[in-house]
Amino acid sequence: MNRKVAVVGGAGNVGATVAHAIAAKELADVVIIDIAEQKAAGMALDMYEACPIEKSDARVIGGGDWAEASGADIVVITSGKPRKPGMSRDDLVRDNFAIMESIAPNLVKHCPNAIVIPVANPLDAMAQALLKLSKFPRERIIGMAGVLDSARMRTFIAMELNVSVENVHAFVLGGHGDTMVPLPRYSTVAGIPITELLSKDQIEAISKRTANGGAEITKLVGTSAWYAPGSAATEMVEAILKDKKKILPCSVYLQGEYGKAFTRTVMGATWASAEKKMPKNYFNELKKYLLK
Ligand code: 2OP
Repeated sequence: MNRKVAVVGGAGNVGATVAHAIAAKELADVVIIDIAEQKAAGMALDMYEACPIEKSDARVIGGGDWAEASGADIVVITSGKPRKPGMSRDDLVRDNFAIMESIAPNLVKHCPNAIVIPVANPLDAMAQALLKLSKFPRERIIGMAGVLDSARMRTFIAMELNVSVENVHAFVLGGHGDTMVPLPRYSTVAGIPITELLSKDQIEAISKRTANGGAEITKLVGTSAWYAPGSAATEMVEAILKDKKKILPCSVYLQGEYGKAFTRTVMGATWASAEKKMPKNYFNELKKYLLK
């Protein structure tokens, strides 16, 4: 195929989910890079062998050699320690920052023109770390979290109203953690805001469960989630490769776009301090962008 996506840490749960989804959807050839080189090679071969059944001509290879990733259009970085029950995402900052430090030189050397999708936690901090370490333009570092958090909220709304998830749109902004900001009045079912369909208590319960979504899975499974995070990163990859002009909540570095209070912060952190008027500003900015 004429498009290539590298998945760094692709032998882990989230990475493998992303790699397999990209190949199965025939979005691009996939290169899995992992320090567990043999496992990466084996998992890549397994995914490649699934492609005839998926009717996909994507090629999938894996190993530890970054040279294979050279020329990748997108690099998804899933390397990093997952959470254990009881841990917050922030507890991972030291270990995962060290992992980003080890990845950045290879990223810069082998994929200098790639768009990068950081996935490791604490997500907003790791996105900012990769931005600083790689010195890539900020438009090319787009962290995955808002898509995941919004998907969780969509699921819970659909469960509550017993409707198709396809009819549900939800918007969760803010940091990927306690500072997450679910936005009920911009969350709709077939165009109707959920504030008209659900009680205040129901909405509050959904917002709380959304904000706690990662911890809920971690407690049940014993480690971090991977299916929904993998699907979320894949949606971002697809939107970028197909240039779909899709509006997805992501973690990006701002330079005052939403008012100077938020200058030079990662998007996640911005909504954290959530002045009440933020969502309004956000949509004004969005409108400006759409109308320009
Ligand atoms: C989650 O929310 C792994 O942070 C990720 O599940």
